Amino acid sequence: MINVTRESAPAAADGSSAKLLSLFATPVAKIPCPFGAEINEELAAAVLSRSAADIKDLSFKSETVGNLTDWGDPGVDRLTSWVLAMARTFVETLRGEPLHRAVGATRPSDVRLAAHRSWASIYRGGNHHAPHFHPNTAIAAVYYVASAGACDLELADPRANVEFFDPGISFANEGRTVRIGSGPGTLLLMPGWMKHSVPPYEGADVRISIAWNLAYAFSADVALQPAGD
Ligand SMILES: [Fe+2]
Repeated sequence: MINVTRESAPAAADGSSAKLLSLFATPVAKIPCPFGAEINEELAAAVLSRSAADIKDLSFKSETVGNLTDWGDPGVDRLTSWVLAMARTFVETLRGEPLHRAVGATRPSDVRLAAHRSWASIYRGGNHHAPHFHPNTAIAAVYYVASAGACDLELADPRANVEFFDPGISFANEGRTVRIGSGPGTLLLMPGWMKHSVPPYEGADVRISIAWNLAYAFSADVALQPAGD
């Protein structure tokens, strides 16, 4: 099935004036956590203590093993609930309708956002993460727990084919990278297909972030079900 969105409602006078359209915008939300300052210190300690025993040591950073939602940590659970609520609001704001209406369901409880995977990332001097995206993920969520320096995230232009020809003059930020600077206590939400990277972390301390791969969970009587689930 091909999804087509009409650019504007057809009107008799629509063709009489020139228009400049800016299409295919990508939504990214940057949200301060209202209780971030309350939980960050304990959260950082919990991540570092787990990482002493249970860590995936990659060449470019370290990641906790397993799902944070299985830890039974009150700070993690409180944060995850808030992240899920923010992600729901994110989608509902963009759609301009309650989430369940988007799938033709009748009750708000027919659709929810669920964390399919969650993990903490630890960056020390010079660590980085090359461009990647999060497969099978409706919304990628990243929360910054700790850092002495800036928590930068770079977003790559997601428009297909943009890198195959450089005409010499750009007029729509073609191929540009956008760097988003955050600090501890900030949540970022973006589509799972959004390619992003972490530039080398040059802070003197550790940079700790938590990521959740979020997807929709539908009740059994909702006709539409996620593809590839
Ligand atoms: Fe990522």
